[in-house]
Amino acid sequence: METTVISINGMKISCSAGTSVLEAAESAGVYIPRLCYHPELKPHGACRMCIVEDENSGRLLASCVTPVTHGMSILTNTAGVLRHRRNIVRLMISEHPESCVVCSKGNRCQLRRVAAELGVGEPDLYPMPNHSALDQSNPFIIRDLSKCILCGRCIRGCKELVAQGTIDYSMRGAGSRPATLYDHPLKESSCTFCGTCVSLCPTGALSQKRGVFSGTPERVHDSICGFCGVGCSLSMG
Ligand code: FES
Repeated sequence: METTVISINGMKISCSAGTSVLEAAESAGVYIPRLCYHPELKPHGACRMCIVEDENSGRLLASCVTPVTHGMSILTNTAGVLRHRRNIVRLMISEHPESCVVCSKGNRCQLRRVAAELGVGEPDLYPMPNHSALDQSNPFIIRDLSKCILCGRCIRGCKELVAQGTIDYSMRGAGSRPATLYDHPLKESSCTFCGTCVSLCPTGALSQKRGVFSGTPERVHDSICGFCGVGCSLSMG
């Protein structure tokens, strides 16, 4: 396989051509924060949390959707990169309901973890919280789209891992959100309640009714699907 040599934070790394910058960094032990990226899903480039600086061009790149190219020199933690990441988190938090303390995802929320890593504390932008009706009309999943950050992990997981395609983006701009066909509640949709979307959701937008308020982001989530009884597992990523 063709290999490419790039530099990450001054460290020379040899990686397969076609690898993303994020994956190349990860293979070298360099952590880049991410929200919409998940190793089991096709990269999407939606959240921009993984931005890094290309030292040669001075451009900021979303590392999860940028393939490595020979001679690339990447900086992952410059002051500019950190400022942009913080601003993205601040904007996300300004749209988030102020209910972290009682959020069902609690310590498993990746948005909260990234905010802590970047030193973003209290919301300091004018709050414009999303409003969305809670869907808990089924026995398995609580769906609170007011906490959705539009990472698209649930949509991609439902299509790519389960081949179900129950949810997709609905509306555009500020009104955009994941929705079932005709925006029906999950129990009136083609959802099989396999739990894949819950496992992938980085925030409290999707939670399983059993096991709320427990766990950490690293915890492997047991399937809530009752079909095969095997109990497949998918980490939060
Ligand atoms: Fe790369 Fe979201 S993790 S854009």
